[in-house]
Amino acid sequence: MSHQAAPAYALSTHAASLRSSDVRELLRAAQQARVISLAGGLPAPELFDVDGVRAATQAVLEQSPAAALQYGLTEGQPALRAALEARERAAGLSLAGRSLLVTTGSQQALDIVARLLLDEGDVVVMQRPGYLAALQTFTLAGARCIGLEEDEEGARVEALETMQLPRKPKLVYLVTPFANPSGATLSLRRRRWLLQWAARHGVLVLEDDPYGVLRTEGQELPGLAALAQDIPGARDWCGRTSTLSKAVAPGLRLGWLILPRPLAEGAARVKQAMDLHTPSFTQEIAARYLDSGRLEPHLARVRAAYRERRRALCAALREAFGAALEFREPEGGMFVWARFTDGTDTRALLPLALEQGMAFVPGDAFYAEAAPRDRLRLSFTTETPDKLREGVARLHAAWAAMHGG
Ligand SMILES: Cc1ncc(COP(=O)(O)O)c(C=O)c1O
Repeated sequence: MSHQAAPAYALSTHAASLRSSDVRELLRAAQQARVISLAGGLPAPELFDVDGVRAATQAVLEQSPAAALQYGLTEGQPALRAALEARERAAGLSLAGRSLLVTTGSQQALDIVARLLLDEGDVVVMQRPGYLAALQTFTLAGARCIGLEEDEEGARVEALETMQLPRKPKLVYLVTPFANPSGATLSLRRRRWLLQWAARHGVLVLEDDPYGVLRTEGQELPGLAALAQDIPGARDWCGRTSTLSKAVAPGLRLGWLILPRPLAEGAARVKQAMDLHTPSFTQEIAARYLDSGRLEPHLARVRAAYRERRRALCAALREAFGAALEFREPEGGMFVWARFTDGTDTRALLPLALEQGMAFVPGDAFYAEAAPRDRLRLSFTTETPDKLREGVARLHAAWAAMHGG
């Protein structure tokens, strides 16, 4: 048998620096049927509105097949843009002086903004812990990502005034309601402060809002882009991205990006170079679906199920761990972020948990550097309340085994 050496491919410096995603590796281990997975960040598949999407797909193929199957505009199919703009307006956002670009998931919106703004060595300020794929996208663009710690009011944005940065940031990127992974929501006070700071310093703030539609309790806060309308100068320094992934289905791969018009024009040129346009087919389906009036009743069902699941998870965690596990129950979203007060190393706990038949994501996966080891992310969306309770019992058994119990 001949052994050939692996070819020495020369990856770009930034591609070579990307760590493999722990979350993805984990999902593989957690896919076995016996494992109760609180690791994924997926919507509950049994709640997908399959009938609604089927009806929209049939209508598209019967009534407007050419629009669905032909090349389309880089900015997006007019029908979907109009439907998304109407939703944003209903939430208080004005599109005067701004443009909405349909993107292939909000993940692509992050990539577009990175390619539009970032040069080698530029500074991006984001949450710490932060959304892993955003961290990777900005790193791939050559940026240095610097973290803002969070508390019960979300990211401590006031630190922007005092933190030592190697240079003025090009971008502040924040997941505003129910952040991934922390579940924290940025308070109204801090939203205003941040926009005033952005206007004063001429730094773009990008609000990423995939989880706002999953609010089940408490008061909805105005998004940054809507608030920016009332703060002198801020409107020119605020962008927003959101997605249909959590509201309808991630398989559609549909998101959108709203930017001040001059930036939006640049963003469309960048997107054209990336993929010409987002698939016309799913855009036409989504436009029909949004017009069908089925989204709100669907979301009401999803929210009710997620509320029940989150409550079951949090109650089981409190009962099993008491003061050994600290967490704040969020008012929506998909995640509970917790910290072992006894210093349990969650990376070491994970193999024991998998042995017991449950999975979670160790918190250190969400930090670029100097990661604390005592945190974990638990998702409550894909398992039933009974399975969540069983998952917590298995986590507790793993934790007890680790501590010789
Ligand atoms: C904070 C955040 N932003 C963006 C995304 C990407 O979503 P999509 O590309 O499916 O719209 C996710 C997905 O989980 C996310 O958690």
